[in-house]
Amino acid sequence: MKVLVTGGTGYIGSHTVLCLLQAGHDVVVVDNLVNSSRESLNRVQELAGRNVVFAHTDLLDEAALTAVFDQHAVGAVIHFAGLKAVGESVQQPLRYYHNNVTGTINLLRVMDAHDVRTLVFSSSATVYGGNNAVPYVEKMDIGADNPYGRTKEQIEDILSDIGAADSRWHIALLRYFNPVGAHESGRIGEDPLGIPNNLVPFIAQVAVGRREKLMIFGGDYDTPDGTCLRDYIHVMDLSEGHVAAVDYVASRAGVFRWNLGSGIGSSVFDVLHAFERAVGHTLPSELAPRRDGDLPAFWADPSAALADLSWSTSKSLDEMCQDHWRWQKNNPNGYAAP
Ligand code: NAD
Ligand code: WQD
Repeated sequence: MKVLVTGGTGYIGSHTVLCLLQAGHDVVVVDNLVNSSRESLNRVQELAGRNVVFAHTDLLDEAALTAVFDQHAVGAVIHFAGLKAVGESVQQPLRYYHNNVTGTINLLRVMDAHDVRTLVFSSSATVYGGNNAVPYVEKMDIGADNPYGRTKEQIEDILSDIGAADSRWHIALLRYFNPVGAHESGRIGEDPLGIPNNLVPFIAQVAVGRREKLMIFGGDYDTPDGTCLRDYIHVMDLSEGHVAAVDYVASRAGVFRWNLGSGIGSSVFDVLHAFERAVGHTLPSELAPRRDGDLPAFWADPSAALADLSWSTSKSLDEMCQDHWRWQKNNPNGYAAP
């Protein structure tokens, strides 16, 4: 099948493009490169031994998007493109709603006009918000706590309404937990712009000497070691989940929701120590005040994805850190030239 991947040069998108190529699919990538590099796809092509079509296109440009769909016989879309920084979304909500929600509406309009109605959407565990008990289960009411999360919630609502109104749509809403790690080759990985917001990219930059020390946000939570618990998932496991989801919905109409997580909660210290084992020595860190908006602990109930997609995670926290470290060590400046 020909799969169009929006956001395909980004972190999760590039790994998923590789998995799609290896599974025999053809791929067209649409990305405006606002948070990624074209180099990621050169490396994906090198790893897969196959080519990808790249369209340097913004989802906000509906005419340009129409031209891409006019040129390619797309069978399904995996939709990663979006802005994803929670703190930035609080500062710039209009930019986030416009980019993520309007960009998705444009995509859906163009898909509909081209009779393409199979879609896998990147949602997030953040849609569960702070009012649900853990582990999170797909049937729970959702309610995000920040503008970024609300863009995901709104898009989920739009897709649910479309699926209810028109039975020709085949839609998967994938709620990811905390993706980390990199392809085992160390050729592709996460390359954040500026100071990383997320834990593992920050630790990796400390390990490679780009940052002085890790600040551990809060050591006084009601958790076993006092730091927050999260469900970390290897980006390759996550990518395989997308291939499973697109294959599943390709032959089934309706709107499906799946958590993609491991079901295991790991603390900030668990992650730091796993990364230290990967590097082979301790890393500088310091306890700091809690970060605004952090929930103490959440993880997935991943049983629906196992039952429906025969998908579950296979890689441990140690493997996530080893693979993330190989990428960072071999590419200290990410995709930028050394
Ligand atoms: P990323 O920033 O690496 O990838 C997103 C890609 O979308 C980038 O390449 C960016 O250039 C592109 N993009 C953004 N706006 C666009 C637009 N208007 N038109 C075309 N391209 C555009 O992020 P990622 O970590 O790979 O995340 C992928 C998706 O998964 C996002 O939707 C994100 O919200 C979601 N998600 C990420 C995480 C995470 O922790 N990384 C967790 C849950 C959900
Ligand atoms: C993990 C833990 C921090 C950095 C975010 C988004 C979420 C989703 C995934 C997209 C927390 C602690 C972090 C640091 C630290 N993205 N930490 N020092 O907050 O669970 O989720 O990314 O959908 O929406 O909110 O991930 O990696 O930022 O934090 O101590 O320098 O690490 O306090 O406990 P989070 P994270």
